[in-house]
Amino acid sequence: MKGEVNTLHILVLNGPNLNLLGTRNPEVYGTTTLPDIQRQMQERAEALGCELDFMQSNHEGALIDAIHNARGKYQYLILNAGAYTHTSYAIRDAIEAVEIPTIEIHLSNIHAREAFRHESVLAPVCVGQICGFGAMSYMLALQYAAEMGQQHHE
Ligand code: DQA
Repeated sequence: MKGEVNTLHILVLNGPNLNLLGTRNPEVYGTTTLPDIQRQMQERAEALGCELDFMQSNHEGALIDAIHNARGKYQYLILNAGAYTHTSYAIRDAIEAVEIPTIEIHLSNIHAREAFRHESVLAPVCVGQICGFGAMSYMLALQYAAEMGQQHHE
C-alpha cells in the first residue's frame, strides 16, 4: 500500500489450498498459478489506477484477522475462501462485521460440482459472486471493484 489517500485500495484474499494452483486438479482449476494470477491482476490494477494487496492463508483465523485488519485500509475485498466458502460462519461474520464490500469469487463453477459446494455461507454478506471463469473470475471481480469503487471513492 503505497498510493495516495484517494487511490482505491483493494485486498485480494485467498484461502486454503489456493497456494497449490497450477498443480492442484488442473482439469478443474487450470494450470495458472496464484503468482501468475496476482501478476495479471497487478498489471490490470495499474491500468485502472488502483492499488492491490494480496494475502493467502490456509488458516481460517488468519483470514479472519486479515479481514479485521482491512478495516479503514481497503475499500473492497476480493475473496476466494476455498472450501471455507461452504463451511465458515466465522468468515461470514467477519465480512459482515467490517462492512467492507466483498466480492466472492471461485475459479470453478461451484454450482455445477458436488452438492456440498452448491451452498456458499458467505454469499448473503457479499456484494455478489463470480464463479466458473477460471483465473478470469479474479479479473472480473477487479473490474467491478475498480469501477464501482472509484465512483464512490472520488
Ligand atoms: C474454489 C471452489 C471451492 O469449492 C474449493 O474448495 C476451492 C476452490 C474455486 O475457486 O473454484 O478450494 O473456491
